[in-house]
Amino acid sequence: MEVLEGLKDVVVCESEISRIVIENGEAVLEYRGYNIHDLAKYSTYEEVAYLLLYGELPSKSELELFSEELKERRELPPQVIGLLSNLSPFSHPMVALRTSVSYLGTLDKYIHHIDEEKSLEKAKNLIAKLPTIVAYFHRIRTGQKLIHPNEELSHAENFLYMLHGEIPSEVEARALDVDLILHADHELNASTFAARVAASTLADMYACVVAATGTLMGPLHGGASQKVMEMLREVAVPWRAESYVKEKLERGERIMGFGHRVYKNVVDPRTIELKILAKKLAELKDPRWYKISEAIEEAVRKYKGLLPNVDFYSASVYANLGIPDDMFICIFALGRIAGWTAHIIEQYKDNTLIRPRAKYVGPVRRKYIPIEERG
Ligand code: ACO
Repeated sequence: MEVLEGLKDVVVCESEISRIVIENGEAVLEYRGYNIHDLAKYSTYEEVAYLLLYGELPSKSELELFSEELKERRELPPQVIGLLSNLSPFSHPMVALRTSVSYLGTLDKYIHHIDEEKSLEKAKNLIAKLPTIVAYFHRIRTGQKLIHPNEELSHAENFLYMLHGEIPSEVEARALDVDLILHADHELNASTFAARVAASTLADMYACVVAATGTLMGPLHGGASQKVMEMLREVAVPWRAESYVKEKLERGERIMGFGHRVYKNVVDPRTIELKILAKKLAELKDPRWYKISEAIEEAVRKYKGLLPNVDFYSASVYANLGIPDDMFICIFALGRIAGWTAHIIEQYKDNTLIRPRAKYVGPVRRKYIPIEERG
């Protein structure tokens, strides 16, 4: 039995959703065959969510209908608002999010239906409601009154509006919109794999999304962006970045927001777009976070030869959108929900139970000793 630690480079399924390929030393990321740079430039999150779920870019009328469907689904059932009000204000927002997703499952009488039609309904419901859960929980935990969804606003605009109580500027809304596009899918990352493992048992979609949210939370995956922000605050000024990085590496510690399982020695294409967004926001708002980030990037490249990943520049983007540090992972989930649900539906369609093997390395053939004789 050969052990493939961490399933590195193991291909476990076929998928038509996203493709990562390294061509001539350059990484290309496509959703359903469309390059991420084109989507970031021309598309909206609603359009990309449609693309991921249905496999094709929508026509104008299809997009209008889809966007309307999302808008109609944004409000939360009173039971979920009650749940959010009863959670401890110290709960991590990501825990509030996954608890609410599970609770939504109790309110769906078709919870166990996994046919495509019902699954798409559930997916649209989750894509629409996740931002409201995150914004409402934040308003509740900070003792502020709820700001209900505004149907005049796009998906990204409406989230920032529900969170801050003010309609965001065009630049802020577009920055979040592009960020959500960039986070919408990424092949078999750990959280999507967790969702597919759950789906492969034919578990309900809420169970699969709870598995994904739990997996996203760790600092080696989506949790890294919160840690990046802790680091930016600790470094505090760009000139301290070099010594901070050097000392941390000398202690054998990891620098959060650097390194990637798939992009080894190649630039993560999402990072290129996120760096542009972070720079644009820095010019309009607080330039500190971007400047410190640039200095850290340079130092990590110099001392370890590692490149930033998607979580690195996300941190300065979120900070300049006024998003609290502990909500950074939630923003990742607001984007990734489109990819998770698309993968769950794909898994249901052509399912094989995902059940790998482990090589047993513990003791064998031991003689059982009755408890009275164990001493
Ligand atoms: N800081 C310092 N050293 C690092 C880092 C880092 N961020 N990342 C990798 N390395 C080093 C490892 O120590 C190892 O060095 P060694 O060969 O001398 O022992 C080498 O690079 C390879 O690292 P692995 O952990 O084997 O690579 P793997 O593919 O398993 O891990 C991971 C990828 C988990 C992302 C890793 O790079 C990491 O821990 N990064 C920091 C956390 C992070 O930013 N996570 C977000 C990832 S992106 C995402 O999920 C959205």
